[in-house]
Amino acid sequence: MKSNHQYNNPVKATLKGIRDLFKKRGRIGALHPDEHLKGKTVMITGASSGLGLATAKQVARLGARVVMVVRSGIPEKGNEVRRASGSEDIIMLPVDLSDFNSIDTLVSRIKEEIGTVDIVISNAAVVAAKARMTKAGLEEMFMVNYFSAYYLIRSLLRQNLIATDPDQPARIIIVGSESHRDPAEFDWDAFGQFQAHAVGKTVALYGYYKLLLVTFAFELSRRLNQKQITHSVFALCPGPVNSNIAREAPAFFQPILKLVFRLFFRSPEQACEPVVYLATSRSLNKKSFMYLFLMEEKSIDEKALDTANGSKLWTLSKQLAEKLGYPLL
Ligand SMILES: NC(=O)c1ccc[n+]([C@@H]2O[C@H](COP(=O)([O-])OP(=O)(O)OC[C@H]3O[C@@H](n4cnc5c(N)ncnc54)[C@H](OP(=O)(O)O)[C@@H]3O)[C@@H](O)[C@H]2O)c1
Repeated sequence: MKSNHQYNNPVKATLKGIRDLFKKRGRIGALHPDEHLKGKTVMITGASSGLGLATAKQVARLGARVVMVVRSGIPEKGNEVRRASGSEDIIMLPVDLSDFNSIDTLVSRIKEEIGTVDIVISNAAVVAAKARMTKAGLEEMFMVNYFSAYYLIRSLLRQNLIATDPDQPARIIIVGSESHRDPAEFDWDAFGQFQAHAVGKTVALYGYYKLLLVTFAFELSRRLNQKQITHSVFALCPGPVNSNIAREAPAFFQPILKLVFRLFFRSPEQACEPVVYLATSRSLNKKSFMYLFLMEEKSIDEKALDTANGSKLWTLSKQLAEKLGYPLL
C-alpha cells in the first residue's frame, strides 16, 4: 500500500501524534454551561474502555440516556459510569463487532428495548498484532474498524432506529483518526479481501481503514441530506489518547509505550472533549458534516471528499455485505 509516510509505522505515528498535540491549534468553541443532553438517547460502541468509556460518563453527566454497546465489561463498566455520573439511566448491550450475527442481534435488541436513538457514536476499534480472520472470512481490523460501522449504521437507518427530526437532526459521530491522511490511494481491487499481515503492517492498515471510515462518513452525510438536513454526520480525531489501544503491541515494546502514553498522551477524560462537543453543541444543529481534529475544525483528506471515491466505497460495501449473505434488509 502506498503511503504518505507519516503514520505508517508505530514509532512515526506516535511521534507525529505527540508533535500534533504540542502544536498551537484553533478551537471551535466550548459547550455553554446550560447545554445538556436531557431527553436524548446516546448509543456508544466500544464504551468499555478508553475514549468510549470516558464519553459514556460525560454524556451521562449531561443527562443523556446512555446505551453502552460493549464486547466486555457487563455490568462493571456500566456501574462505573453510574457511579461517575450519578445517573441510573445507563443500559448495556453486548456486541462483537467482528460478527455480523452479533450486530444483527444488537439491532433487534435496540428495536425491542430502546426504540430510536438520537445520537450514535461509532467509536470501537482494534489495533491487531496480526491479521485474524472473522467468521465471515474478513480481516478482523477491516471488519471492526470500518465495515461494522458501515453495517451497523446502515442497519439502524434502514430500520428507522435513528431519530429523524428536521428541527433537531440526529447525530452520527464517527471516531476517525488523522492517520486517514496517510494512505496515498485506495486499493479497490483488494476491498474486503483477507490479507495476511504481521505487526509491521498493522499501523498502515489502521490508517487505511480510517480512510474508509471517514470516506463513508462524508458519503453518508451526502446521501442522507440531499433534500433537507435530517442527520448530522460528524467525524473526529481525538489526538493521542492514553487508552488501551496498543494492548496488542509486542511485549518488548509495551513498557516504553506505556511510559510514552502516560507522559505525553491525553487522558480519555480530556480526549473525549470533541466527541462530547459534537454530540451536544447547539451551535452544530443542522450542520450536515464536520470533522474535528482535537477541537479544531479541519477538512478531511481530499481522497475522502471525492464523491467518486465515496460512491465507489458505498457500492463495494453494499456488494460485499450481499456477497457474504448479510444484505441490508
Ligand atoms: N488511542 C489513541 O491514541 C487514538 C488516536 C486516534 C483515534 N483513536 C480512536 O479512538 C477510538 C477509541 O479507541 P481507544 O483509544 O479508546 O482504545 P481502547 O481503549 O482500546 O478502546 C477500544 C474499544 O473498542 C472495543 N472493541 C474492540 N474490538 C471490538 C469488537 N470486536 N467488538 C466490540 N467492541 C470492540 C473495545 O472493547 P474491549 O474493551 O472489550 O476490548 C474497547 O471498548 C478508536 O476508534 C480509535 O481508533 C484512538
